[in-house]
Amino acid sequence: MKLWSGRFTKNTDRFVDEFNASLPVDKYLYKQDIRGSIAHAKMLAKCAIITEEESKQIVEGLESILKEIEEGSFKFDISDEDIHMSIERALIEKIGPVGGKLHTARSRNDQVALDTRMFVKNAIIEIGAEIVTLQSELINIAQKEIETIMPGYTHLQRAQPVLFSHHMMAYFWMLRRDFNRLKGVFQRTDVMPLGSAALAGTTYPIDMEYVARETGFSKISNNSLDAVSDRDFILEFHAAASILMMHLSRLSEELVIWSSAEFSFIELDDAYTTGSSIMPQKKNADVAELIRGKTGRVYGNLMQLLTTMKGLPLAYNKDMQEDKEALFDSIETVKNCLIGMQGMISTMKINSEVMRQAAEGGFTNATELADYLVTKGVPFRDAHRIAGNMVRKAIEEGCWLTDFSIEEFQAESSLIDDDIYEFLDIGNAVRRRNMRGGTAPERVVEQIKKALKHLEKEKDWLQEKSGR
Ligand code: ARG
Repeated sequence: MKLWSGRFTKNTDRFVDEFNASLPVDKYLYKQDIRGSIAHAKMLAKCAIITEEESKQIVEGLESILKEIEEGSFKFDISDEDIHMSIERALIEKIGPVGGKLHTARSRNDQVALDTRMFVKNAIIEIGAEIVTLQSELINIAQKEIETIMPGYTHLQRAQPVLFSHHMMAYFWMLRRDFNRLKGVFQRTDVMPLGSAALAGTTYPIDMEYVARETGFSKISNNSLDAVSDRDFILEFHAAASILMMHLSRLSEELVIWSSAEFSFIELDDAYTTGSSIMPQKKNADVAELIRGKTGRVYGNLMQLLTTMKGLPLAYNKDMQEDKEALFDSIETVKNCLIGMQGMISTMKINSEVMRQAAEGGFTNATELADYLVTKGVPFRDAHRIAGNMVRKAIEEGCWLTDFSIEEFQAESSLIDDDIYEFLDIGNAVRRRNMRGGTAPERVVEQIKKALKHLEKEKDWLQEKSGR
C-alpha cells in the first residue's frame, strides 16, 4: 500500500508505478536525504513538535537505514516511487508508527529541494578539487617548458611565435573562471528550503535556522513558493559545467591536432591513447576525443532542463523530477573529463624542437618586420604593406624573411639596417612582448607566480566548504 493511499480506491497501474518512479535515479540522493531527515527530526523535537524520545528513535532508525544502504543490504522497491518514500517506508517498518511522525511539517517538495541542493554543493566541491588538480598540472608543464617556443595561431594559420608555457597558462585562467563560476553557483545553491513544505509553508513552529546549521547551509530561503519551484541552481550548474566542458573540449581539440603526424608537437602517453583494431600503426587520442564529444552531453543536459522548466506554473510540478538524471550525468561527466585531461597533460611528451621549427617557418615574424619599421618612424599601416610585399616576394622565391640579403631588404625600405636579422629572431620576438600578460618569458614567470597564489586560495575555499 502507498503511504498516500488514503483517498484512493484502486491500486496504481503497474505501468504508472514504473513510469512515475524516480527511484532508480534518485536513490543516489540517499545520503543527503537521510542527513536532511535527521536534522529535521532533531528540529521537530527541539521545537516540541515531537518528543525527544520519538526523535531519538527516528534518528537511530535513519542511521541504521543509512548503514544498510551503504552495505548494499537495503531493499529498494520501485513501487515506493522515490528515495524519499523508500526511506520513510523502511523507517516505519523498522521503528513502527512513530516513524510516521518524521514527515510532520515538511513535504517531499521541500525535501527534494533540500537533498538536491546538498548534492549540488557537494558536487561543486568535488569538481572544484579536480579543476585545481588540472590547474596544477598545467602550471607544472608550463614551468618545465617555460622557454619552449611554438607558433601561435589565429584561424589555425601560423600567426606569431608564443611560448608553449604561455599557451598552457591560457587554460589555467579559463579554468580559474570556471572555478569561480562554480563558486558563484555554490553560493546561490547554499540556501536551505526545508520548512517551505508543499508550497505555502507550514503551520508548525519550526526552526529553519537550526536545520540550516545541521545540514551545513549558510542561508535560508525567503519565499516558500520559490524554494520548492525553482531549479535555477541546477540550471546554472549545467551552464557553468557547459562552459567548463567547452574549455576542456578546445584543449582536447588542440591535443588531437598536436599529436597528429602533421603537427607532431606532442606525443600523448600510451596509457592515455588507444589502438586501432585494423591499422597497427594507429595511436588514437580517444580520451581527448571523448572529452570533446561528451561536451555535447553536458550542453544537452542544460537544454533539457531549460526546456523542462520553461512553461511550468508555480509551484511544484512532476516535470521537475526529470531534473536529476541529467544533473547526475553532468556531474559524472565533468569529473571524469577533468580526470582524463589531468592524465593526458601530466604524461604527454613535448617535442620542443618540432614546435620551434614550426615557429621559425610560416612567416610568424612578419609582424616583427612591420614593428621594426615602426621603430624607424614608419606609420604602422605603411610598415604593414612593406612587410606584406616582402612576404609575397619570399613566397615567390621559396625562402623565409631571414634568408633575404640586406640589399634585398633595403630595396624595399632604405630604413632597414643589419640589426633586422636580430629583430626577426623568434626568441627576440617573444621576449619583446613584455607587457602585462604578454608571452615574454619573464611575464609568463610572473603569471605563473600569480596563478600559484590563486591556486592556494582556491584550495583554501575548498577546504573551508568541505569541512561543513
Ligand atoms: N521524486 C520527486 C521529484 O524528484 C519528489 C517530489 C515529489 N513531490 C510530489 N508532490 N509528487 O521531483
